[in-house]
Amino acid sequence: MSKNSKRYSKESRLIHGEMKTSVWDYSHNVVPPLSSNSTFRLDSSERGSMGFEEYANNKNNKPIYIYDRLEEPTTMMLEQRLAEAEGGDQALTFASGMAAISTTLLALIKSGQRIITHHILYGCTDSLLRDSFADLKIDVTRVNMCNIKEIQKNITKETRIIYLETPLNPTLEMMDIPSISSIVKKENAKRDGGNKIYLIVDNTFMTPWGQRPIHHGADIVVHSLTKAIGGYGTDTAGAAIVPNEIYSKLQIKRKDFGGMLSSRSAWSILTYGIPTLPLRVKKQQESAKKIAEYLESHPKVKNVKWPGLRSFKGQKIAKKQMQDPEGNFFPGFMIYFEIKSNKQNIGSKFVNFIAKNSYSITLAVSLGNIKTLIECPFSMTHSVIPEEEKLENNLDQNGIRLSVGLESPEDLKKDLEAAFSSI
Ligand SMILES: Cc1ncc(COP(=O)(O)O)c(C=O)c1O
Repeated sequence: MSKNSKRYSKESRLIHGEMKTSVWDYSHNVVPPLSSNSTFRLDSSERGSMGFEEYANNKNNKPIYIYDRLEEPTTMMLEQRLAEAEGGDQALTFASGMAAISTTLLALIKSGQRIITHHILYGCTDSLLRDSFADLKIDVTRVNMCNIKEIQKNITKETRIIYLETPLNPTLEMMDIPSISSIVKKENAKRDGGNKIYLIVDNTFMTPWGQRPIHHGADIVVHSLTKAIGGYGTDTAGAAIVPNEIYSKLQIKRKDFGGMLSSRSAWSILTYGIPTLPLRVKKQQESAKKIAEYLESHPKVKNVKWPGLRSFKGQKIAKKQMQDPEGNFFPGFMIYFEIKSNKQNIGSKFVNFIAKNSYSITLAVSLGNIKTLIECPFSMTHSVIPEEEKLENNLDQNGIRLSVGLESPEDLKKDLEAAFSSI
């Protein structure tokens, strides 16, 4: 079966993956079994010592399993599926999106070196860079990453990482991955390999179904699998999809920091999340279109950001890089909108009404869930970012983030309309 699998579509390959490789043989299973061992039986101390030696030297083509925190078959199976979905060399899974992001960054940067990123980022990534990285004397330079010239201007010999989210959480602003990548490639051509700059893209909002940054020139993709890839809201998990050259380095950091993913969570993402990803996000996007159009025509809405709307500012870039594996434009299932009002608390009034009265919309952080989730990023997920920085970068007090789920869009409109009537 696996012999010819490469000629099948991404959709089918996300369902089947590879049931037999040099690392596992599940060719007699329909669903891969869940391996759950904190430690593995070794036949001899020599085999144990060979296992450690091979692990340290990245010879895990046919791994000798030693201990769950180092590597184990169920998580490796999920990693293989993720690497293929993103079009990268290899993937590593982690206990959360934040474990993936922090471990990846710390594997690539040291005190005195520089990360260039945007003014706004997902709140915990922002806080990691603002607090912990400042303590480690890692310079975090924030620029408007929608403006390529600003990135170029701020690259110094200390720069090692360019980190971005596109579309940006929560305002969906676009950053041009191919153009940023070409700046990085030009700069790297002048440097030796040990000093190269890595372009890292957080692809959580899009999933590999809707955008594959490595194809557009990114070096590394990070994910919160807690979101649309997991899909059902049952597991917290993260991943980094990386080139072969840094796999081993990152694997060792994961072993030492200890943020590996539990095989039980890996199994459920592999069994439920990954195979249903295309089905879910296609339907979510279809509904998002209807909701975005409804919001855009609503008299109480100041503006709506959804990359599929004609009014969307970065649509040219969006069309270039946000595509499903068949090449169709994939504007996604995330919507950001602002309520028209001079009152600063109108956004929270709106979501509070939803929390108390809605059946189809849930007030909760997270996104990409089968259930539609709503929140106020200014005071919730992005609360750590200084107020002036948010206001200067299009993140408004009355801005609302909506992650469209699988409910009937008519029901979602019904619940939104009731909330609009309440303000
Ligand atoms: C874009 C983005 N990246 C990373 C994360 C962190 O993921 P996790 O909550 O799985 O640690 C989140 C969480 O909301 C997110 O929205």
